Amino acid sequence: MRVKLRIWRQSGPTDTKAGLRDYTVETDEHMSFLETLDVLNADLIRKGESPVAFDHDCREGICGACSLVIDGVPHGPRAATTTCQIHMREFRDQAVITVEPWRAKAFPVIKDLTVDRSAFDRIIAAGGYVSVRTGAAPDANAIPIGKRTAERAFDFAACIGCGACVAACPNASAMLFVGAKVAQLALLPQGQVERGSRATRMVAQMDAQGFGGCSNHGECEAVCPKSISLDAIAMLNVETMRAALERA
Ligand code: SF4
Ligand code: FES
Repeated sequence: MRVKLRIWRQSGPTDTKAGLRDYTVETDEHMSFLETLDVLNADLIRKGESPVAFDHDCREGICGACSLVIDGVPHGPRAATTTCQIHMREFRDQAVITVEPWRAKAFPVIKDLTVDRSAFDRIIAAGGYVSVRTGAAPDANAIPIGKRTAERAFDFAACIGCGACVAACPNASAMLFVGAKVAQLALLPQGQVERGSRATRMVAQMDAQGFGGCSNHGECEAVCPKSISLDAIAMLNVETMRAALERA
């Protein structure tokens, strides 16, 4: 099959000539979307042109590195699926496919389709961890946790930090991401000691990074490749209020 890729090209953060460029690529319905970009890049390198920069690592839907807006949708046309797990059979032969980077003030473009997501790292560094001494790894059944609670914590822990939720939100809000991280730890016994200060510090850092607030559009949940539900945002609001009441 043959497709036309309309790709955002930007040589660097301050490139004033950035814009969409068209490339025709011979691909195959069984190839992944990123493999199709590999084919294009091999061709560009052969011609002495600059290859398209894009983020990827595991290509298995695990790491959260891949991050393309495909035809206006973060991670593309398939629900609950990362960019790296999209295959060309999702598109018709001769399709024109627009490929852009995540767009948010807090995720500045580095080059082409690659953006700087270190703002997420700084939010995690502000409180997304357990710092109490836990000693050696205990037996798995030494701290009883109810099945329902364990499953909810696990569902929130599935967040891979990709940032699609931010890219989809009209406010560029990071509340689904932060909510997932706060909720995961708030549900478990190990997360109780720092529970209040964690939510407060992470939300303060989120605001400092320039992410917007939630106004209940739900776009984040719709594009999340790990199906993190809006419950994460509800839990974040509860945890933040709980911390404020504790301080009062
Ligand atoms: S909540 Fe979903 S979309 Fe947002 S960073 Fe986590 S996995 Fe990605
Ligand atoms: S490259 Fe790791 S999730 Fe897509």
